[in-house]
Amino acid sequence: MNIAIFASGSGSNFEAIAKAIKRGNIKGQIVLLITDKEKAFARIRAKRLGIRDLYINPQDYQTRLDFDKAVIGILRKEKIELVALAGFMRIITPYFVRQYKYKIMNIHPAILPAFRGEHAIERAFAYGSKITGVTVHFVDEKIDHGPVILQEIVAIKKGMSLKQLTTAVHRLEHILYPRAIKLFTEKRLKIKGRHVKVC
Ligand code: GRF
Repeated sequence: MNIAIFASGSGSNFEAIAKAIKRGNIKGQIVLLITDKEKAFARIRAKRLGIRDLYINPQDYQTRLDFDKAVIGILRKEKIELVALAGFMRIITPYFVRQYKYKIMNIHPAILPAFRGEHAIERAFAYGSKITGVTVHFVDEKIDHGPVILQEIVAIKKGMSLKQLTTAVHRLEHILYPRAIKLFTEKRLKIKGRHVKVC
């Protein structure tokens, strides 16, 4: 299965997925990494991993739709069957979502619907939550909203620092995202409304 990863920043999830594929855990290949940030560290990881990376400058497009149409053109050309958003900070258009319905995944560092949006780990910590976690979900037209594929908890233990919590959440992300992608490539995810059944 041909996979494209979209990232804007560090790309640690991208690397975790790439490594799971290298270990033979997932029957698929990352055909390319797409970034909207020229300086994204994910691009350096791509070079190290020997994965093609493509920086697309949003300023070259007048509208979000123009940008997404260009991206879709590339995805079609490369016969991409799964798009994995991994810290991609750009909102994708409903048009893109419809073109790749239930073929776009996202990872969020909280138990959705709690702490949607940016800085979810920091906000859960500041809120005094006793638990937070990680959600992998299909992307729909609303932000951090589509059907939940996998979700696991991280306990915010007494005395835990924000740094420790951040490390724990990222560690869990690096397990859950490859697992969700593996299930998808094995066609073991059945979607009914908001519910994703793992078969
Ligand atoms: C992750 O915490 C992910 O959940 C969120 O953005 C962060 C990306 O981290 N959507 P990285 O670039 O994969 O290291």
